[in-house]
Amino acid sequence: MTIRTILTYPNPLLRQKAKQVGTFDKELEQLIDDMAETMYDAPGIGLAATQIGDSRQLIVVDISKEKRDKDFMPLVNPRIVSSEGQQIDEEGCLSVPELTSNVKRFKKITVAYQDITGEAAEITAEERFAVVLQHEIDHLHGILFIDHLSPLKRQLYKKKVKKMLAGEERPSG
Ligand code: NI
Repeated sequence: MTIRTILTYPNPLLRQKAKQVGTFDKELEQLIDDMAETMYDAPGIGLAATQIGDSRQLIVVDISKEKRDKDFMPLVNPRIVSSEGQQIDEEGCLSVPELTSNVKRFKKITVAYQDITGEAAEITAEERFAVVLQHEIDHLHGILFIDHLSPLKRQLYKKKVKKMLAGEERPSG
């Protein structure tokens, strides 16, 4: 297993639309293992392949009951097939450093996906788990949680990033 580099905003690769996975082989299993390792190292509770520069429709989400456990679930080619209600909860993203914000999402969703062997499956999620799934599936469409914020908030974040990047380039000492 390898810890991969997580791309951060404004890397253009985060805006790529992921492609459907058609091959379920050892290499895919390897990628899933790497993604899980990368997610727990960060640490995070979900990761999309897009975030490590791989343009496949693949996400991993943490499903541990206890914090010390590392139980995760890979969802290949996930898509939301039904949704209901609304909720507002605070989100952050490993690809969007130094920002958390409230985002409006569906309260309950059903997601169709394929498992690691290509078997079709469905999962219904509510509350926080539904937020995580919506957030990660967004990544596969090149969407970041900041895209759900008001233009003003997004603008403020862009300015902050510019400052952070300028700071990195300044010679030290
Ligand atoms: Ni994210």
